[in-house]
Amino acid sequence: MEKIQVKDRIFKVYMPESEIQKCVKAVADKISHDYKHRKPILCPVLTGSYLFVADLTRYIEFDAEVSFVRYSSYDGMSSTGKVKKILGFPEKCKGRDVIIVEDIVDSGLSMKFMIEELKKLEPASIAICTFFYKPGNFKEDFKVDYVGKEIPNDFIVGYGLDYDGVGRTYRDVYVVDDNE
Ligand code: IMP
Ligand code: MG
Repeated sequence: MEKIQVKDRIFKVYMPESEIQKCVKAVADKISHDYKHRKPILCPVLTGSYLFVADLTRYIEFDAEVSFVRYSSYDGMSSTGKVKKILGFPEKCKGRDVIIVEDIVDSGLSMKFMIEELKKLEPASIAICTFFYKPGNFKEDFKVDYVGKEIPNDFIVGYGLDYDGVGRTYRDVYVVDDNE
């Protein structure tokens, strides 16, 4: 099995590119179906979701508006417990159907914070789309509408996900290898 080193840790392959693409396509098909007669704004969360949203929008069967936001809570391999706004939701979300696009929903803290921020702009609706979802760590009460893949509480990198800023650019997803 292929292994990579990211900073001080060894990671092993967890989800190959082919499987990732199948999951992205399945999510895109659902969104295409649900939003066929609406014009949603997709708000991907920087930086982790940049690859996911690039693939997602190319599978979605309508011309979606994309407006990146940036909120951050992670430091290394764990959440700081505090969410920081770096680039907020655009004013044009008012009265619109908005889909927040994340790389991963872990405890749900960051997403909960973003939902509350977005609500202040009075959008017509809010949907949550995430590639990875760790239900075992989830502590909030909002509904996750679109999920690429549910995973256990493992730390992963690749396909946009980082370990302390690095490891994002791999096409496959890797999990930290505890045997190393
Ligand atoms: P939450 O606020 O606990 O849901 O954490 C969400 C954010 O933590 C995500 O947007 C990621 O940036 C980061 N994160 C959570 N789990 C992982 C992981 O396994 N690998 C890389 N980043 C992660
Ligand atoms: Mg993130």
